[in-house]
Amino acid sequence: MSEIVKFLATVLYYVEKKNFPLAVAFKRAYLYNKPRKIDSNLLYDYSKRLILSYYALPQGKRSFKVRYWLENKENIEIKFPNWMEEKLSTLLDIKALKGKLKERWVWARINLLKTDIDKIYRELEGKNIEFESDKDFYYMIKIKKSSVRLSSLSIVKDCKLIIHDKGSSLVVEALKPEIGEKVVDLSSAPGIKASLYMMLTENRAEIFLADVDFKRLLKEYSLLKRCGVDLSKIHIIYQDSTKNSVIRSDKILLDAPCSSSGMINNDPSILLKLWDNEKIERFAKLQKSLLSESLKITANKLVYAVCSLFPEEGEKVIEDYYEIAEKPFSNYQSGYSLFKVGEKSNRTFPHTDSTEGFFISTLNLTKL
Ligand SMILES: C[S@@+](CC[C@H](N)C(=O)[O-])C[C@H]1O[C@@H](n2cnc3c(N)ncnc32)[C@H](O)[C@@H]1O
Repeated sequence: MSEIVKFLATVLYYVEKKNFPLAVAFKRAYLYNKPRKIDSNLLYDYSKRLILSYYALPQGKRSFKVRYWLENKENIEIKFPNWMEEKLSTLLDIKALKGKLKERWVWARINLLKTDIDKIYRELEGKNIEFESDKDFYYMIKIKKSSVRLSSLSIVKDCKLIIHDKGSSLVVEALKPEIGEKVVDLSSAPGIKASLYMMLTENRAEIFLADVDFKRLLKEYSLLKRCGVDLSKIHIIYQDSTKNSVIRSDKILLDAPCSSSGMINNDPSILLKLWDNEKIERFAKLQKSLLSESLKITANKLVYAVCSLFPEEGEKVIEDYYEIAEKPFSNYQSGYSLFKVGEKSNRTFPHTDSTEGFFISTLNLTKL
Protein backbone atom coordinates (compact mmCIF):
# COMPACT_ATOMS: atom_id res chain seq x y z
CA MET A 1 0.00 0.00 0.00
CA SER A 2 1.44 3.40 -0.91
CA GLU A 3 2.34 5.75 1.93
CA ILE A 4 -0.35 8.25 1.02
CA VAL A 5 -3.10 5.60 0.83
CA LYS A 6 -2.01 4.29 4.21
CA PHE A 7 -2.01 7.79 5.67
CA LEU A 8 -5.47 8.76 4.38
CA ALA A 9 -6.92 5.38 5.40
CA THR A 10 -5.61 6.04 8.93
CA VAL A 11 -7.25 9.48 8.97
CA LEU A 12 -10.49 7.87 7.81
CA TYR A 13 -10.21 5.22 10.50
CA TYR A 14 -9.84 7.83 13.28
CA VAL A 15 -12.78 9.84 11.96
CA GLU A 16 -15.06 6.85 11.28
CA LYS A 17 -14.29 4.57 14.18
CA LYS A 18 -12.99 6.87 16.91
CA ASN A 19 -15.22 9.87 16.14
CA PHE A 20 -12.20 12.18 16.22
CA PRO A 21 -12.51 15.65 14.70
CA LEU A 22 -10.49 15.95 11.50
CA ALA A 23 -7.69 18.01 13.08
CA VAL A 24 -7.16 15.38 15.80
CA ALA A 25 -7.38 12.47 13.34
CA PHE A 26 -4.85 14.19 11.09
CA LYS A 27 -2.45 14.91 13.96
CA ARG A 28 -2.59 11.29 15.15
CA ALA A 29 -2.09 9.87 11.67
CA TYR A 30 0.80 12.27 11.09
CA LEU A 31 2.44 11.24 14.31
CA TYR A 32 2.43 7.51 13.51
CA ASN A 33 2.29 7.35 9.74
CA LYS A 34 3.91 10.48 8.34
CA PRO A 35 4.47 10.03 4.59
CA ARG A 36 7.82 11.23 3.27
CA LYS A 37 8.09 13.69 0.42
CA ILE A 38 4.61 15.16 0.65
CA ASP A 39 3.83 18.62 1.89
CA SER A 40 1.72 18.58 5.09
CA ASN A 41 -0.59 21.34 3.79
CA LEU A 42 -1.42 19.25 0.73
CA LEU A 43 -1.91 16.20 2.91
CA TYR A 44 -4.34 18.10 5.12
CA ASP A 45 -6.19 19.35 2.06
CA TYR A 46 -6.53 15.77 0.78
CA SER A 47 -7.74 14.57 4.19
CA LYS A 48 -10.35 17.31 4.35
CA ARG A 49 -11.64 16.67 0.82
CA LEU A 50 -11.74 12.91 1.42
CA ILE A 51 -13.99 13.38 4.45
CA LEU A 52 -16.13 15.97 2.66
CA SER A 53 -16.74 13.34 -0.05
CA TYR A 54 -17.40 10.55 2.47
CA TYR A 55 -20.99 9.99 1.34
CA ALA A 56 -19.88 9.73 -2.31
CA LEU A 57 -17.35 6.96 -1.64
CA PRO A 58 -18.06 3.34 -2.64
CA GLN A 59 -18.65 0.59 -0.07
CA GLY A 60 -15.59 -1.42 0.87
CA LYS A 61 -12.38 -1.38 2.84
CA ARG A 62 -10.97 1.98 3.86
CA SER A 63 -7.93 1.54 1.61
CA PHE A 64 -10.28 0.85 -1.32
CA LYS A 65 -12.29 3.99 -0.57
CA VAL A 66 -9.10 6.06 -0.38
CA ARG A 67 -7.74 4.67 -3.66
CA TYR A 68 -11.06 5.41 -5.34
CA TRP A 69 -10.96 8.97 -4.01
CA LEU A 70 -7.34 9.51 -5.09
CA GLU A 71 -8.09 8.25 -8.61
CA ASN A 72 -11.23 10.38 -8.99
CA LYS A 73 -10.43 13.35 -6.78
CA GLU A 74 -10.77 15.97 -9.54
CA ASN A 75 -14.33 14.88 -10.33
CA ILE A 76 -15.67 13.42 -7.11
CA GLU A 77 -18.34 15.57 -5.51
CA ILE A 78 -18.67 16.82 -1.99
CA LYS A 79 -21.71 15.07 -0.63
CA PHE A 80 -23.86 15.63 2.44
CA PRO A 81 -26.26 13.00 3.84
CA ASN A 82 -29.38 12.81 1.62
CA TRP A 83 -31.76 14.39 4.13
CA MET A 84 -29.32 17.30 4.59
CA GLU A 85 -28.92 17.81 0.83
CA GLU A 86 -32.73 17.94 0.46
CA LYS A 87 -33.25 20.33 3.34
CA LEU A 88 -30.42 22.73 2.51
CA SER A 89 -31.26 22.92 -1.19
CA THR A 90 -34.53 24.68 -0.29
CA LEU A 91 -32.72 27.17 1.94
CA LEU A 92 -29.40 28.16 0.38
CA ASP A 93 -27.16 27.88 -2.67
CA ILE A 94 -25.81 24.42 -1.87
CA LYS A 95 -23.53 24.37 -4.93
CA ALA A 96 -21.85 27.61 -3.86
CA LEU A 97 -21.50 26.28 -0.31
CA LYS A 98 -19.82 23.08 -1.50
CA GLY A 99 -17.56 25.04 -3.85
CA LYS A 100 -16.35 27.21 -0.98
CA LEU A 101 -15.66 24.20 1.24
CA LYS A 102 -12.87 23.19 -1.12
CA GLU A 103 -10.96 26.33 -0.14
CA ARG A 104 -8.89 26.77 2.98
CA TRP A 105 -8.88 29.87 5.17
CA VAL A 106 -8.41 30.54 8.85
CA TRP A 107 -9.62 33.43 11.00
CA ALA A 108 -7.62 34.59 13.98
CA ARG A 109 -8.06 37.22 16.65
CA ILE A 110 -5.29 39.46 17.90
CA ASN A 111 -5.62 39.28 21.66
CA LEU A 112 -5.25 42.88 22.78
CA LEU A 113 -5.12 41.80 26.41
CA LYS A 114 -1.63 40.42 25.70
CA THR A 115 -0.21 42.17 22.65
CA ASP A 116 -0.86 44.85 20.05
CA ILE A 117 -1.78 44.77 16.40
CA ASP A 118 1.55 46.04 15.00
CA LYS A 119 3.55 43.37 16.84
CA ILE A 120 1.40 40.58 15.41
CA TYR A 121 1.52 42.01 11.89
CA ARG A 122 5.34 42.19 12.11
CA GLU A 123 5.57 38.65 13.45
CA LEU A 124 3.37 37.22 10.68
CA GLU A 125 5.15 39.19 7.95
CA GLY A 126 8.50 37.95 9.30
CA LYS A 127 7.29 34.38 8.82
CA ASN A 128 5.95 35.08 5.31
CA ILE A 129 2.42 34.28 6.40
CA GLU A 130 -0.14 35.78 4.01
CA PHE A 131 -3.03 37.48 5.79
CA GLU A 132 -5.47 40.34 5.48
CA SER A 133 -7.06 42.51 8.13
CA ASP A 134 -10.81 42.31 8.49
CA LYS A 135 -13.06 45.11 7.22
CA ASP A 136 -15.39 45.00 10.24
CA PHE A 137 -13.32 44.18 13.29
CA TYR A 138 -9.89 45.71 13.75
CA TYR A 139 -8.71 42.78 15.89
CA MET A 140 -9.60 40.03 13.37
CA ILE A 141 -7.36 38.81 10.55
CA LYS A 142 -7.89 36.23 7.83
CA ILE A 143 -4.89 34.00 7.23
CA LYS A 144 -4.75 33.06 3.58
CA LYS A 145 -1.54 31.12 3.25
CA SER A 146 1.05 29.79 5.63
CA SER A 147 3.83 27.27 5.16
CA VAL A 148 4.14 26.81 8.92
CA ARG A 149 1.54 25.16 11.13
CA LEU A 150 -0.23 28.02 12.92
CA SER A 151 -0.50 26.04 16.15
CA SER A 152 3.30 25.82 16.25
CA LEU A 153 3.75 29.61 16.35
CA SER A 154 4.79 31.03 19.73
CA ILE A 155 2.23 33.88 19.36
CA VAL A 156 -0.50 31.22 19.10
CA LYS A 157 0.89 29.14 21.99
CA ASP A 158 1.04 32.32 24.13
CA CYS A 159 -2.58 33.23 23.25
CA LYS A 160 -1.49 36.47 21.62
CA LEU A 161 -3.11 35.27 18.43
CA ILE A 162 -6.20 33.12 18.97
CA ILE A 163 -7.51 30.95 16.16
CA HIS A 164 -11.23 31.48 16.01
CA ASP A 165 -13.85 32.16 13.43
CA LYS A 166 -15.17 35.62 12.64
CA GLY A 167 -18.69 34.27 13.20
CA SER A 168 -17.77 33.87 16.90
CA SER A 169 -16.78 37.53 17.01
CA LEU A 170 -20.11 38.52 15.47
CA VAL A 171 -21.94 36.69 18.27
CA VAL A 172 -20.03 38.65 20.91
CA GLU A 173 -20.32 41.96 19.03
CA ALA A 174 -24.11 41.41 18.86
CA LEU A 175 -24.13 41.80 22.65
CA LYS A 176 -22.52 45.26 22.26
CA PRO A 177 -20.08 44.76 25.14
CA GLU A 178 -19.81 47.65 27.59
CA ILE A 179 -17.43 48.34 30.44
CA GLY A 180 -18.86 47.73 33.90
CA GLU A 181 -21.71 45.45 32.99
CA LYS A 182 -22.57 41.95 34.15
CA VAL A 183 -23.04 39.19 31.62
CA VAL A 184 -24.11 35.58 32.01
CA ASP A 185 -22.97 33.06 29.43
CA LEU A 186 -25.20 30.01 29.89
CA SER A 187 -23.20 27.51 27.84
CA SER A 188 -19.78 29.02 27.96
CA ALA A 189 -17.03 26.43 27.49
CA PRO A 190 -14.37 26.48 26.11
CA GLY A 191 -14.59 30.24 26.63
CA ILE A 192 -13.63 31.74 23.27
CA LYS A 193 -16.50 34.21 23.31
CA ALA A 194 -16.04 35.00 27.01
CA SER A 195 -12.39 35.85 26.43
CA LEU A 196 -13.33 38.16 23.55
CA TYR A 197 -15.95 39.81 25.73
CA MET A 198 -13.31 40.55 28.34
CA MET A 199 -10.92 41.85 25.70
CA LEU A 200 -13.54 44.24 24.30
CA THR A 201 -14.31 45.57 27.76
CA GLU A 202 -10.59 45.81 28.67
CA ASN A 203 -11.16 43.29 31.47
CA ARG A 204 -13.72 45.63 33.01
CA ALA A 205 -16.89 43.55 32.77
CA GLU A 206 -18.00 40.82 35.15
CA ILE A 207 -18.89 37.54 33.59
CA PHE A 208 -20.76 34.50 34.90
CA LEU A 209 -19.72 31.40 33.00
CA ALA A 210 -22.01 28.38 33.18
CA ASP A 211 -21.62 24.97 31.59
CA VAL A 212 -22.88 21.45 32.24
CA ASP A 213 -19.52 19.85 31.44
CA PHE A 214 -17.09 20.09 34.35
CA LYS A 215 -13.99 19.10 32.35
CA ARG A 216 -14.79 21.75 29.75
CA LEU A 217 -15.18 24.33 32.53
CA LEU A 218 -11.70 23.47 33.82
CA LYS A 219 -10.30 23.93 30.32
CA GLU A 220 -12.18 27.20 30.02
CA TYR A 221 -10.67 28.55 33.23
CA SER A 222 -7.18 27.66 32.07
CA LEU A 223 -7.81 29.20 28.61
CA LEU A 224 -9.05 32.45 30.15
CA LYS A 225 -5.98 32.57 32.38
CA ARG A 226 -3.66 32.06 29.41
CA CYS A 227 -5.56 34.71 27.46
CA GLY A 228 -4.82 37.34 30.11
CA VAL A 229 -8.41 37.62 31.37
CA ASP A 230 -8.70 39.11 34.87
CA LEU A 231 -9.86 36.03 36.79
CA SER A 232 -11.25 38.12 39.64
CA LYS A 233 -13.99 39.17 37.18
CA ILE A 234 -14.91 35.60 36.31
CA HIS A 235 -17.44 33.42 38.12
CA ILE A 236 -17.63 29.79 37.09
CA ILE A 237 -20.98 28.03 37.51
CA TYR A 238 -21.21 24.28 37.08
CA GLN A 239 -24.85 23.79 36.16
CA ASP A 240 -27.32 22.38 33.72
CA SER A 241 -28.63 25.69 32.40
CA THR A 242 -32.07 24.19 31.76
CA LYS A 243 -32.24 24.50 35.57
CA ASN A 244 -30.46 27.80 35.85
CA SER A 245 -29.41 29.42 39.14
CA VAL A 246 -28.61 32.98 37.96
CA ILE A 247 -31.33 35.48 38.83
CA ARG A 248 -30.14 38.81 37.45
CA SER A 249 -27.67 40.12 34.88
CA ASP A 250 -27.35 43.01 32.41
CA LYS A 251 -27.00 40.77 29.38
CA ILE A 252 -27.32 37.07 28.56
CA LEU A 253 -25.44 35.04 26.01
CA LEU A 254 -26.99 31.76 24.92
CA ASP A 255 -24.48 30.30 22.49
CA ALA A 256 -26.39 27.06 22.55
CA PRO A 257 -25.13 23.49 22.09
CA CYS A 258 -26.00 22.51 18.52
CA SER A 259 -25.37 20.15 15.60
CA SER A 260 -22.26 22.21 14.63
CA SER A 261 -23.38 21.82 11.01
CA GLY A 262 -22.14 25.36 10.39
CA MET A 263 -18.60 24.20 11.15
CA ILE A 264 -18.13 21.59 8.42
CA ASN A 265 -15.51 23.71 6.71
CA ASN A 266 -13.38 23.63 9.81
CA ASP A 267 -14.27 20.06 10.71
CA PRO A 268 -15.93 17.93 7.99
CA SER A 269 -16.02 14.91 10.34
CA ILE A 270 -19.23 16.53 11.67
CA LEU A 271 -20.93 15.24 8.50
CA LEU A 272 -20.48 11.65 9.68
CA LYS A 273 -22.42 12.44 12.85
CA LEU A 274 -25.24 13.93 10.79
CA TRP A 275 -26.11 10.78 8.87
CA ASP A 276 -29.71 11.10 10.10
CA ASN A 277 -31.65 14.09 11.37
CA GLU A 278 -32.54 12.66 14.76
CA LYS A 279 -29.77 14.73 16.37
CA ILE A 280 -31.29 17.98 15.10
CA GLU A 281 -34.60 17.28 16.81
CA ARG A 282 -32.78 16.53 20.07
CA PHE A 283 -30.76 19.74 19.91
CA ALA A 284 -33.83 21.81 19.01
CA LYS A 285 -35.62 20.52 22.12
CA LEU A 286 -32.62 21.35 24.33
CA GLN A 287 -32.20 24.80 22.75
CA LYS A 288 -35.87 25.68 23.35
CA SER A 289 -35.61 24.51 26.93
CA LEU A 290 -32.41 26.54 27.52
CA LEU A 291 -34.01 29.62 25.96
CA SER A 292 -37.22 29.50 27.98
CA GLU A 293 -35.21 28.98 31.18
CA SER A 294 -32.86 31.88 30.38
CA LEU A 295 -35.83 34.20 29.91
CA LYS A 296 -36.56 33.81 33.63
CA ILE A 297 -33.39 35.85 34.33
CA THR A 298 -33.98 39.56 34.85
CA ALA A 299 -31.87 41.21 32.13
CA ASN A 300 -32.06 43.76 29.31
CA LYS A 301 -30.84 41.79 26.38
CA LEU A 302 -30.21 38.23 25.24
CA VAL A 303 -28.20 37.05 22.26
CA TYR A 304 -29.14 33.62 20.95
CA ALA A 305 -26.63 31.98 18.61
CA VAL A 306 -25.89 28.58 17.12
CA CYS A 307 -23.28 27.35 14.69
CA SER A 308 -25.85 25.51 12.62
CA LEU A 309 -27.24 25.66 9.09
CA PHE A 310 -30.63 24.26 10.10
CA PRO A 311 -33.67 26.44 10.84
CA GLU A 312 -34.81 23.95 13.52
CA GLU A 313 -31.91 25.22 15.65
CA GLY A 314 -32.21 28.88 14.65
CA GLU A 315 -35.35 30.55 13.31
CA LYS A 316 -37.69 27.89 14.75
CA VAL A 317 -36.21 28.24 18.24
CA ILE A 318 -36.86 31.99 18.43
CA GLU A 319 -39.99 32.29 16.27
CA ASP A 320 -42.28 32.46 19.32
CA TYR A 321 -40.38 35.59 20.38
CA TYR A 322 -40.88 37.47 17.11
CA GLU A 323 -42.17 40.61 18.87
CA ILE A 324 -39.01 41.12 20.92
CA ALA A 325 -36.48 39.82 18.38
CA GLU A 326 -34.08 42.28 16.71
CA LYS A 327 -31.68 41.82 13.83
CA PRO A 328 -28.18 42.34 15.24
CA PHE A 329 -26.38 43.55 12.08
CA SER A 330 -27.83 45.50 9.16
CA ASN A 331 -24.73 44.84 7.03
CA TYR A 332 -25.10 41.04 7.23
CA GLN A 333 -27.76 38.94 5.56
CA SER A 334 -30.95 38.03 7.35
CA GLY A 335 -32.01 34.58 8.50
CA TYR A 336 -33.94 32.25 6.21
CA SER A 337 -36.81 34.10 4.51
CA LEU A 338 -39.07 31.02 4.76
CA PHE A 339 -39.55 32.08 8.38
CA LYS A 340 -40.99 35.46 9.40
CA VAL A 341 -38.46 35.82 12.22
CA GLY A 342 -35.68 35.44 9.61
CA GLU A 343 -35.93 39.21 9.04
CA LYS A 344 -35.05 39.76 12.70
CA SER A 345 -31.92 37.65 12.70
CA ASN A 346 -28.65 37.18 10.85
CA ARG A 347 -27.07 34.21 9.16
CA THR A 348 -23.48 33.89 8.00
CA PHE A 349 -22.17 31.23 5.61
CA PRO A 350 -18.82 30.01 4.31
CA HIS A 351 -19.75 30.89 0.71
CA THR A 352 -21.04 34.40 1.37
CA ASP A 353 -18.97 35.58 4.33
CA SER A 354 -15.98 33.23 4.47
CA THR A 355 -17.07 32.37 8.01
CA GLU A 356 -18.65 29.41 9.66
CA GLY A 357 -22.43 29.09 9.35
CA PHE A 358 -23.86 30.99 12.30
CA PHE A 359 -27.40 31.99 13.23
CA ILE A 360 -27.61 35.04 15.52
CA SER A 361 -30.56 36.96 16.92
CA THR A 362 -31.01 39.47 19.72
CA LEU A 363 -33.99 39.47 22.07
CA ASN A 364 -34.82 42.83 23.59
CA LEU A 365 -35.90 41.74 27.08
CA THR A 366 -37.00 45.24 28.10
CA LYS A 367 -40.01 44.64 25.82
CA LEU A 368 -41.09 41.50 27.68
C1 LIG B 1 -21.34 25.89 21.34
S1 LIG B 1 -20.55 25.37 22.79
C2 LIG B 1 -20.26 26.92 23.57
C3 LIG B 1 -19.06 27.65 23.03
C4 LIG B 1 -18.63 28.81 23.91
N1 LIG B 1 -19.69 29.78 24.07
C5 LIG B 1 -17.39 29.48 23.37
O1 LIG B 1 -17.50 30.49 22.70
O2 LIG B 1 -16.29 28.98 23.61
C6 LIG B 1 -21.87 24.72 23.72
C7 LIG B 1 -21.58 24.37 25.16
O3 LIG B 1 -22.84 24.06 25.77
C8 LIG B 1 -22.59 23.16 26.84
N2 LIG B 1 -23.89 22.58 27.23
C9 LIG B 1 -24.57 21.55 26.66
N3 LIG B 1 -25.72 21.33 27.32
C10 LIG B 1 -25.77 22.24 28.34
C11 LIG B 1 -26.70 22.50 29.39
N4 LIG B 1 -27.83 21.80 29.52
N5 LIG B 1 -26.41 23.48 30.27
C12 LIG B 1 -25.26 24.20 30.16
N6 LIG B 1 -24.35 23.99 29.19
C13 LIG B 1 -24.60 23.04 28.29
C14 LIG B 1 -21.57 22.21 26.23
O4 LIG B 1 -20.89 21.54 27.27
C15 LIG B 1 -20.69 23.16 25.42
O5 LIG B 1 -19.58 23.55 26.18
